[in-house]
Amino acid sequence: MSKQIKCGVIGHPITHSKSPLIHNYWINTYGLNGIYEAIDVAPENLETGVKRLIDEGYKGFNVTVPHKETIMALCDKIDHNAQNIGAVNTVVIENGRLRGMNTDGYGFLHNIWDTDPNFDFEDKCAVVLGAGGATRAIVSALIGERIGKIILLNRTRERAENLAEDMGKVGNFITVEDWKNRHAVLTTADLLVNTTALGMQGQPVLEIDLGKLPVHALVNDIVYAPLDTDLLKAARVRGNKTVTGIGMLLHQARPAFKEWFGLLPGVTDELNELVLK
Ligand code: ATR
Repeated sequence: MSKQIKCGVIGHPITHSKSPLIHNYWINTYGLNGIYEAIDVAPENLETGVKRLIDEGYKGFNVTVPHKETIMALCDKIDHNAQNIGAVNTVVIENGRLRGMNTDGYGFLHNIWDTDPNFDFEDKCAVVLGAGGATRAIVSALIGERIGKIILLNRTRERAENLAEDMGKVGNFITVEDWKNRHAVLTTADLLVNTTALGMQGQPVLEIDLGKLPVHALVNDIVYAPLDTDLLKAARVRGNKTVTGIGMLLHQARPAFKEWFGLLPGVTDELNELVLK
């Protein structure tokens, strides 16, 4: 029998992570000899925690809060995309060396293409709410798909300005607007994405009037608890196409799994149901 492939996710806390469920589903589905574990690593133990994984022959690991940025200092190589985003969510261990990647943008794009396979981002206008870590991955993915214009709005405007500057596109095709203008800027949107925590269980609601949003615009919420957020409900009532957030989580896991197991796994209805249970 082939040698068991070991991988996992590091974070702190880690019990809430759905990654073990997703990867172990694929390990079982494809009948692979592997194991994917949730590994609690406190911030002060990051270096020793990672060294243990190298010493024990792990093939790699996912990285979640609070290590997505700090892991970068321990990587021997970081791909261009992760470098651009400023965060690593996947590490591949090769001969004791760490290669960092970020698959969140892939997850975002493929989640949208799952609902609308023909959605073409080129020359479109995206209104993006938020300026957190997830926003960086999404903005970077949009740029990669040759988006025409990104209008960025965040409660803390400065964070949006920093993000736009880091992406190197300020005054070119990324513009930053005040949070209070979020209703008015929708007029030219082909895509509206909520990347904030607003609308999530236990968080305040996202207050936004969709009155000016063109009916052809696609609306995506990266919040997936609840799955059908108030934003998506309001969009659907007006006739806008909507994309829920769970697919981003599922699709971002696929390239990581491929790195470790050599196979790009599929997102099935069964997996969707399993993760939403
Ligand atoms: P992540 O890395 O998961 O994207 P984050 O960095 O904590 O998370 O970002 C959360 C996003 O939700 C931010 O854009 C945040 O806005 P601020 O930058 O102003 O903090 C946004 N957010 C959270 N609570 C909010 C609220 N009550 N009103 C408006 N925006 C909120």
